[in-house]
Amino acid sequence: MPTKIEKDAVTGQNTTGHEWDGIKELNTPLPTWWVYLLYATIAWSIGLFVIYPSFPGITGYLPGVVGYSARQELADKMKVEKEVRAPFLDRVRNGSLEDIRRTPDLLGYAVAGGRVAFAENCAGCHQSGGAGAKGYPSLADDEWLWGGKLADIQKTIQVGIRSMHPDTRTSLMPRFGTDGILDRRQLDDVTEFVLSLSTKPVDPAAVERGRRLYAENCASCHGEQGAGMREFGAPSLTDKVWLFGGDKPSILRSIAEGRAGVMPAWGERLDPAIVKMLTLYVHTLGGGE
Ligand code: HEC
Ligand code: HEC
Repeated sequence: MPTKIEKDAVTGQNTTGHEWDGIKELNTPLPTWWVYLLYATIAWSIGLFVIYPSFPGITGYLPGVVGYSARQELADKMKVEKEVRAPFLDRVRNGSLEDIRRTPDLLGYAVAGGRVAFAENCAGCHQSGGAGAKGYPSLADDEWLWGGKLADIQKTIQVGIRSMHPDTRTSLMPRFGTDGILDRRQLDDVTEFVLSLSTKPVDPAAVERGRRLYAENCASCHGEQGAGMREFGAPSLTDKVWLFGGDKPSILRSIAEGRAGVMPAWGERLDPAIVKMLTLYVHTLGGGE
């Protein structure tokens, strides 16, 4: 292949000297603007290299002349944030729940903090906004197992329910079927009676038999009329709110196997001020008493 550089007649540029089957390759230089842009970006990168942290080393890195650190920037911002919040947090920590509730700016701060803590710690079970799910009670209605006053809610959050905490709220509904306290027929009768309390269509003869069984086995926790008892965390059986389902198979299962829902204790895991904020947040969800 001949390598003869010549001037192209049409463009006036030199060729590279490469030629294939009579086709010659032009040696067009890069556009000037492009070359300057390239030099400018190189200069810019050298500038950044010198000013900001750049090159990694074995034990550290080249810090750059201004000594910038994103970590430090975050730490500074957090410090400022903490200083701004400190007075509020102290007022929450030292004030009584009732006092906080009556102080609008403080209540607003506490509820906002409670909302964030709730999303982080509680929404996994109670759903966002405390809407609840099967087995996890709604915290937004006025149906309470253990009570909806500020002090009740605070205690539930602190000690949990059937939790590992020594002072946990606890009570255990017997497993009437599993432990053979009632036989199949009796379980069915008492289920019919429970259904009758929330005015579901039922078998009247079974309800009558179930009524006696209820008085003997259930009234001590759920109340004579089925209204529930907060000392035992026993839910009302007369309303249409069901923690574990209100259809016949679900109710039968609750009675036969027991449910014994577990709520973890938070008193030792969370700052007392956070527990207070959670209490106020839950209280404002709609069912606070
Ligand atoms: C692991 C799941 C779980 C998590 C996480 C959880 N809970 Fe619960 N919570 C439950 C269960 C289950 C019950 C009901 C227990 C029962 O069956 O008696 C409950 C009950 C409650 C009650 C009592 C409701 C009533 O009707 O008296 C309150 C208040 C409550 N939870 C608040 C919270 C708050 C606030 C958090 C976050 C700090 C939280 N829970 C996190 C499972 C959970
Ligand atoms: C020692 C107290 C106690 C006794 C006795 C008791 N229960 Fe319960 N019951 C509870 C508690 C506490 C709960 C709910 C909390 C849990 O178990 O998670 C409950 C839950 C239930 C539920 C589920 C309610 C729902 O909202 O889903 C039904 C139904 C029920 N009981 C029926 C009965 C019947 C019928 C009897 C008698 C055969 C009975 N219970 C005896 C304490 C008791």
